[in-house]
Amino acid sequence: MEEKKLIKYFSNLNTLIHNVLNFHWNVTGGLFLTLHQLYNEQYNFIFESIDQLAEILKMKGIYPPTCIKEIYELADIKTMESKDYSARETIEYEIEQFEQMNKLAYELGEIANKEDQLSLVDFFTNQTNFFNKQLYFLRQLLK
Ligand SMILES: [Fe+2]
Repeated sequence: MEEKKLIKYFSNLNTLIHNVLNFHWNVTGGLFLTLHQLYNEQYNFIFESIDQLAEILKMKGIYPPTCIKEIYELADIKTMESKDYSARETIEYEIEQFEQMNKLAYELGEIANKEDQLSLVDFFTNQTNFFNKQLYFLRQLLK
């Protein structure tokens, strides 16, 4: 597994957590409490994931990036302005970004599997399980 790919995934998670916090705080409308709580569960999971991946990186002798500026340059998840968002906007943005993360997690899981890197297989399997379940929740909300 290329170090670059893991660092990019790590940077994406670090960017995504800020978007989820943004929506947790700024979502508006009648679904506020429901989405506020859903987004809370999501950022707790993402926070744990960042720590787990950082520890896997450290076990490989890789330093996880910690400078915010560097993280945002390495990530390909876009950052979002802090402002009011309708429930639908937050759900649509999350679907777009979670799909992107899910695809990447699946690709990296496949590579880890071929290379018999079990801790990474485990990590990326958990990631795709999480993103798939969240995508299901979000799509149900839009129906
Ligand atoms: Fe909160």
